[in-house]
This record gives sequence, C-alpha cells and structure tokens, in this order.
Amino acid sequence: MILPKVVIIELGSQYTLLIERALRELGFRSVILEPKRVVEWLLVNSPKAVILSGGSASCYDKDAPQPPHQILVWGQAAKSGSAVLGICYGMQWLAWRLRGKVKAVLKKKEYGESSIRILEKPNGIFSGTPENQKVWMSHGDSVTKLPPGFKAVARSSSGAIAAMQKGNIWGVQFHPEVTHTPFGKTIIQNFLRFAQCEKDWKPSSIIESIRQAAMEQLGKNKAVFGFSGGVDSSTVAAIMAPALKRNLLAVTIDGGHLREKELIEVRRHAKAARVNLRIIDAKSRFNKVMAHSVDAEEKRKCFKKIYLLLLTKAARDFGAKAILQGTLASDRIESGATGGAAIKSHHNVGLGMKGLLSLHPVSHLFKYEVRVLAKAIRLPKSVWARQPFPGPGLFLRVVGVPATLKNLDIARWADARTREILERRGIYQNLSQLVVAYIGIPTVGVKGDARVYGGAILVRAVETSDFMTAKGVHFSEEVEEEISSALTRRPEVVRVWFDPTKKPPSTVELE
Ligand code: XMP
Repeated sequence: MILPKVVIIELGSQYTLLIERALRELGFRSVILEPKRVVEWLLVNSPKAVILSGGSASCYDKDAPQPPHQILVWGQAAKSGSAVLGICYGMQWLAWRLRGKVKAVLKKKEYGESSIRILEKPNGIFSGTPENQKVWMSHGDSVTKLPPGFKAVARSSSGAIAAMQKGNIWGVQFHPEVTHTPFGKTIIQNFLRFAQCEKDWKPSSIIESIRQAAMEQLGKNKAVFGFSGGVDSSTVAAIMAPALKRNLLAVTIDGGHLREKELIEVRRHAKAARVNLRIIDAKSRFNKVMAHSVDAEEKRKCFKKIYLLLLTKAARDFGAKAILQGTLASDRIESGATGGAAIKSHHNVGLGMKGLLSLHPVSHLFKYEVRVLAKAIRLPKSVWARQPFPGPGLFLRVVGVPATLKNLDIARWADARTREILERRGIYQNLSQLVVAYIGIPTVGVKGDARVYGGAILVRAVETSDFMTAKGVHFSEEVEEEISSALTRRPEVVRVWFDPTKKPPSTVELE
C-alpha cells in the first residue's frame, strides 16, 4: 500500500487540518500524526516531506509537544528529495532544538495580518511571490537567534526573523496554510518541490488504479463485499461493480446494532452503487454473546469473530473466492497495522479468512479522500456526505452495562431523537460525526416528585477531516436544553451528558 509522502506532525495548532487541506488542493496526499507516532512512520513508510505544525505552547516549556529528535537527524541528513518545514511553533521548535534562541520578546501575542520582506534569492521557497507580502501571524514567542548554519530568508516589518533556512530545513513564523496568507499555497508548493514530492491526488486516476489493482487479484472469481451502506463501502462497491458485475454480492449483517431506518438507507445505497444486496438477520446470534459483554475490546473481538464467520459463510454460499471491504488507512493506523500502538481493534482489519482472498481496495486512503471519489463517481449526496458509523455500531454505544437488545434499543432511540433535533436546527449537516451512547451506570434523579435511579445518555459531536484528530463541538445552551429534555422523557434515562473532549486524548467513539 502506498501511503502519503507528506507527514504533518500535529503540535497543537488549530490550523493543522488547513495544512492538510492546502496540500490536497495542491494535489498531494498527507497524513497527520501525533509526535509519538512519527518514528515508526519514518522507518516504515519513508516520507519525502515532514511539516511541523504550529501550536500554542512555548517550545522551552516542560509540557510542550516535542516532535521526536529523529526529525532533526532525518532533516539534517536530507539531501535533495526530502525536506522539513516548521510552521510557527514548528519553526521555533527547530530553532530551539538546533541551538538557536527562542523568546517571548513581543509585549503581547501577534495575531492577524502582518507584512514580511523576502531576503533570499528568487529560487527558494518564496519563488514566484513578491518581495514584500502580507502573511497571517499568530504567535507569542519569536526566534531571536538563528541556529548555527541557518540564514534568515524573510524578515517582518519589525525586523524579526519571519523565515529561516539551512539546506532542506525551512522554518516560517507565519501560517502559509491559511487563506489570509495570499501566497501561502505557492510557498507550500515550492517547499514540496524541494522535497521532490510527486502529485498523488487525482480522483479519476485513483478510481482507475483501485479498480485495476483489485481486478488483477480477483481475475474471473466472484467476491462478496462487507457492505454497511456508508461512504467507504458504497464507494468501493460503485468502483468495483462495473468490472465485477454479477460476480459481486454486497452483504449486510444486521446484528441488532444498526440505527433506526438504517436498512432502508443500506438498500438505497446498494441500488445507487449498482450492486446486488443480501441482508443477513443475525440479531439472535449476536445477542447470545453481546448480552453478556461490557468490556470494549472483548465486544470488538466478539463482533469481529461473528462478523468473519457470517461473511465467510456468505462467501461460500455465493461461490466467492474473495472478500472485499471498505477498510480505510485510518482503520489500519488505529489498529496498529502500520506500526505504532493499537488503539482499537477495528472489525475489518486483520480478518484472517481461510481459503479466501481478502481485499481492501481503499485501505491507503482517508475518509475525506473517499468522499471525493464518491462524488467523482456520481454517488448521491446521501452517500458522500454521510457521517461515519462504526462497523460494530451500537454495540460500542452501550457503555458500562451489557449490550442487551433492550439497552441497544435505548441507544438507538436516543441517537434517532438527537439526530432529529440537530437536523431540524441545521446543525447535524455540519458535524463530522455525532455519537450518542447509552451509559447504563445508574445515577439518581427525580421525575414527577419521585426518586429515579437510571442511566445516562452521552451526546458527543466532533469536527475533523481525517478522524485521526478531532475537535469537540460545543452546542448552545438552547440546543443542549432541547436535547436533554427530549432524552430524559425516556423512563430509563435520568441525565444527559455533553462531551466536547478533543481527540486526542479522547477517541471519537467511547469504546
Ligand atoms: P475513534 O473512536 O477510533 O474513531 O476515534 C475514528 C473513526 O472510526 C470509526 N470507528 C470504527 N469504524 N469499525 C469501523 O468501521 C470500527 O471498529 C471502528 N471504531 C471506530 C469511528 O466511528 C470514527 O468515525
């Protein structure tokens, strides 16, 4: 699998996702990693460019985010063909670690438009941009002394160092990734030229290469497909359907873990993707196991096992030699399949299927990339705009008590009511994902003057583009009030919690 050649190290900036977006708009894929995941990535995936994001800390603080020192070794050894760019905090960190000086010399933080003057010759990272230009700054600290061997390649109107360079290591104090820096994209593009990155993001050629690679492995054999009706599986189905035709069967397993009206949507999306669909009712099969499980990993592992058995049986019934799945790069990363710690065992990663070929045609892509493919292949908006929903579904959204049919029903009901409210208010459509979970641990409440002792509903929404990091959404008081009144109408529900915690440290799902 060919993974992105540009790594963005997330150091606590609100603009990190904008770096990734700017890269994609320039035609380059990228991956955002927390500092502790970088070393494995460098070793296993040999990137060409590393970008250190901005961040709100001071690099000399005890708790400041620290990229691994291997970045410095990698960057300094970098000949032509790989390069490092530090943005804002990233530049300060580079300067500080390479024996320059960083201080809070400004009386207050510089935030907003600023102007810089370019000092370097025309063929550097400012190539094709004017000598004097506007940029967007957001910082408290500044580089006050360059590290040995570095030169200032731009200064701000106050004379402060606005950009520095040594070989293929660059630092910019401003934010080239925001639109308020008019020549920001040109600067990023020039940097990628130094890293000798090749464009790797074009929907039509990606679709064709996915189809061809899968067909080379499949030949004339039949395949079944673990179909959830979500953006990933619908897109893979639509890409593969014209090549496989009647040799492809989409299989959806209903284990009692699906949301309200989910099967209606599954049928609609299978039709849009032009694949034949088989729905397997496995509620009682899952209930036998899940009704006794509380532990998150145990549930995930049980789900994976039964899912595998049912899918394998469906493949045999259909005479298939292969199983296709819509696994994403982020599923593989979270499951520890690309190096790094395993956060959760995703149901579709590492399924060993005896005698069957296992194909994951989009496992090198991230969610936002698959959405672009879905649009390019003309799937309806209900597919490409659909929020993700985890394979083990509501099993992961009953927390602290066993996922019995009754508890699953509370989670399903709460999810549907919350979604209705947010849709009516036009909020749902702007969320990356809504998570509504039933926390069964009882707490005390009072309803109609009587003591009640019941569970809680947790409502969580996030904004993200790659689901590797996410920002928690804060709802207004009015919205929270409407949701909590609606949900506490259910007798089993005593309180409603809203959870805007970021990822990291939280994950999007609770389990
Ligand atoms: P986390 O909770 O890991 O979620 O921050 C990131 C994204 O992945 C989804 N997710 C899963 N999807 N099988 C899936 O198909 C799984 O086992 C699984 N676990 C988490 C989650 O809903 C979010 O979109």
